[in-house]
This record gives sequence, structure tokens and C-alpha cells, in this order.
Amino acid sequence: MFEILQKREIAPNVHRAVIHAPAIAKKARPGQFVIMMVDERSERVPFTLCDWDRDAGTVTLVVQEVGQSSRKFVLLKAGDQVAHLVGPLGVPLDVEHYGTVALAAGCYGIGAVLGIARAMKAAGNRVLSVVEADSTYLHYYHDELLAASDEFVQTTIDGSNGLKGHSVDVIQRKLESGEKLDRVFAVGCVFMMMLTGNITKPFGVKTLVALNPIMLDGTGMCGACRVTVGKETKFACVDGPFFDAHEVDWDELWDRRAAYGEDEIHAVARTAAVTPRPGLHVRVS
Ligand code: FES
Repeated sequence: MFEILQKREIAPNVHRAVIHAPAIAKKARPGQFVIMMVDERSERVPFTLCDWDRDAGTVTLVVQEVGQSSRKFVLLKAGDQVAHLVGPLGVPLDVEHYGTVALAAGCYGIGAVLGIARAMKAAGNRVLSVVEADSTYLHYYHDELLAASDEFVQTTIDGSNGLKGHSVDVIQRKLESGEKLDRVFAVGCVFMMMLTGNITKPFGVKTLVALNPIMLDGTGMCGACRVTVGKETKFACVDGPFFDAHEVDWDELWDRRAAYGEDEIHAVARTAAVTPRPGLHVRVS
């Protein structure tokens, strides 16, 4: 069992959790992930390792409440335990001195790029972090990413804070103005990662995206996380999660991720009643 040491809702439906997992913390590297089972019967769900502390033996995850399993997790509190946490899994990112590294992130990806930003900066890169959210109250990790970046840009789709638009708009403007980006990493929803790849491709900027297909075992045995990259079949859990955005078959990824969408909607309601939590903004539109 793995104890949750801290847990806090840092934006509506987005929870930061610090979990005691010394063996994982000892080996964690940027770009890797864990698979969690909240209880003995839970679904196995991958979460990016956002941060880790080898001395304290802890790992930090950002969990967005989107379905039954993430809902089970967010109903836990500090002091509770999760049944299984397996990792670190996946291929660590090559952290080298590239020059200028741009990180584009949205949703859970804002938390996921923190460890990458720190590692790239430590390797001597100039780090540009561009994070997007629908509205200002959905942003989080402002101070952490500001400290880890040489340039930090927030965008909001509704224009309520920072620049109006998407993270990819910032990347596009910079490339069009002649700014040199040596590597782009994008972490977030499928659409955002696909768009980022589409924008950087004509400029020939190598762009890596963290693919997020459904996973089961996380060890390359079940085939659930199959993706097509460069016309070859890959398993996101052992060959990824980062792949070249310009080579990904995005339609296939989209279809496979949506396969259980309807079941997921019904399962959420079976987990616990969905009630507003006090102290949080509720979006009315
Ligand atoms: Fe089973 Fe990747 S999750 S092969």
C-alpha cells in the first residue's frame, strides 16, 4: 500500500498528490509515469510523474478528475492509501543541451511538464513554458513553472488572463517571427498535441508529444496502448510515452481513446454522487 501524504485540489477537478513511494522516487526520471490502482479492484490508470523527492521517498502526481478511477482517487485524503503504484514506467526523455526548449501544456499536462522544465533548465537549455487553460481559474503551478522557466506564458481561451488563445498560438507566433526553437514538447489533450505537431512541422522543429492511450499492464504485454508512429506499431507504455508528433497516426489514437467513453460516463455516477465541493469556482456559461 502507498500512503497519500498530501493531497489538495489546486484547480477545479485537478488534484496534486504527494505519495510515499521510495522505490519509484529513487529511479524516477523526466518523462516517465506510474500506473495506479486506487483499490484492489480498480482500473489501472497511468499518471505522469510530475515531481519526485529521492530523500523524502515521495512522488508527486497531478490527477484530473475525468472518470470513475480518477474520481475514486480524488475522494481519498491525506493519510489514506492506494493499493498499487507501479513505476517508474516508460522511456525517460533524453535530457540534453538542445538550445531553446519550448514546453506546451494544458489540463493535466501543466503539472506533467514541471519535471521536464526543471531537467531541461538544469541541462543548460533556455526553457520556454507555455501553458493553456479555458479560463484563469483553471491555471495552476504558476509559481513552480515560473521558477523553472526562462520565459513563462499563460494563455486562456476566454482571454480572462494572460494571452487569449491556445499555447500553440504562442509557439506559432514565435516560429513565424523567426525565433529559433530547438525542441518542442507538448503534453495535454490529444487535440492540443496534434495541433502543436501540425504547427511545428513546416518549420522542421522536432516535436515530442506524450501519448495517452488506454493502458492496462504498462509493461508491453497486453497491447492496449497500441499506437501507430511512422507507420509502425508501438506500445506507448514501453516505447513511449513520448513520440515524434509529426509521425503519429492521430485518427487512430483518437478512436482508440474514445472506445469506452460512454461506459466511462455511466461508471462515474456509480462511484459517488457528483456534488459541488465548497470553495471552488463553478463555471457558468
Ligand atoms: Fe499493455 Fe502497453 S499497456 S502493452
